[in-house]
Amino acid sequence: MTNPQPPSSHQLAADVAAAEDSAIAAVARAGSAAELDRIQSEVIGKRSALARLNTALGALDPEGRRSAGASINAARSRVGGQIEQRRSMLAVTERRARIEAERLDLTETIALASTTGGGVPLPGGPVTRGRLNLVTQTRDELEDTFVALGFAVAEGPEAETDWYNFEALNMPPAHPARGMWDTLYLKLGKPETVLLRTHTSPVQVRLMERQKPPIYAVMPGRCYRRDTPDARHLPVFHQIEGLVVDRDITFADLAGTIEAFTTSFFGPGIHSRLRPSYFPFTEPSGEFEVTCPICAGVGCRTCSGSGWIELGGCGMVDPNVFAAVGIDPDVHSGFAFGFGIDRLAQVRAGLSDMRTLLDNDIRFITQF
Ligand code: DAH
Repeated sequence: MTNPQPPSSHQLAADVAAAEDSAIAAVARAGSAAELDRIQSEVIGKRSALARLNTALGALDPEGRRSAGASINAARSRVGGQIEQRRSMLAVTERRARIEAERLDLTETIALASTTGGGVPLPGGPVTRGRLNLVTQTRDELEDTFVALGFAVAEGPEAETDWYNFEALNMPPAHPARGMWDTLYLKLGKPETVLLRTHTSPVQVRLMERQKPPIYAVMPGRCYRRDTPDARHLPVFHQIEGLVVDRDITFADLAGTIEAFTTSFFGPGIHSRLRPSYFPFTEPSGEFEVTCPICAGVGCRTCSGSGWIELGGCGMVDPNVFAAVGIDPDVHSGFAFGFGIDRLAQVRAGLSDMRTLLDNDIRFITQF
């Protein structure tokens, strides 16, 4: 094996120039401080092309070694200078990007600057419009549906007396059915006489007190219960109550009205059915269910595979309720129903957790 030819000083000078050029080009390509650190060790570190050329110096004569060594050092320090320049440039752009990312735009955009008396337009994106909460939208749709079926809309107070929330609804004091509602009482008057209504049924009583039959009305509103929030319960929620009082109103009218509401609200193919139940203010009482709007009755997670969703309670107005408001049950009869608006919104939107309705997260609200 023959030794390789020692490099000529001419050749070495060309290699130094080439190594310097490629080092400077690599430095210029560095896109971040971290990348620059890596490139730095590649181009002027111990294993760099320039360092390798240094080891080749030994083969030159003393004169050639001195001048080639000087040119390697000069090249190395020029590359080092480029690295420092690049580093401070990258620091500036990285700082700028960070400030931009953390920036809170607290300026108000004057969208109509030219037409509002010469206001100066300020920076900021276009103004986005707010939305009604899904529960409000659902309530509005329910009202529209019932109005189209010939119902009026009525409202009552959220702070109620024991009389309207319980007693006039056929639940005298200590009636066991009061336990169906976990009640929040207000510190007003005698203890446990004023409360936050636990359902919208007291509005039925108020309506029958002030209006003689015929009555065809729905009563939407906010209700309160001493419940811990979970995926299916909110302590503050909404119900809509329905009440019909007229001559010759029968259970068939109740079933027909619920079916008419169901198909007109959910669309064709969604039907209703009634199952026996108990409420103190209706006799007989029922629970009504609708075809699961998610799977159209096939069976899915939302309806636990049954194809039906339980929506609310209903029944024929109990004669004791008529007695409390002075309507003669021998002349008039009626039916009532009530269900949760939040629950309905949850089912229709396929929400696994009812609490998302209250998060006020714009990403959620803008989906509806
Ligand atoms: N008020 C009942 C509740 O909160 C729902 C209800 C059941 C309303 C039967 C009615 C009815 O008008 O007839 O659970």
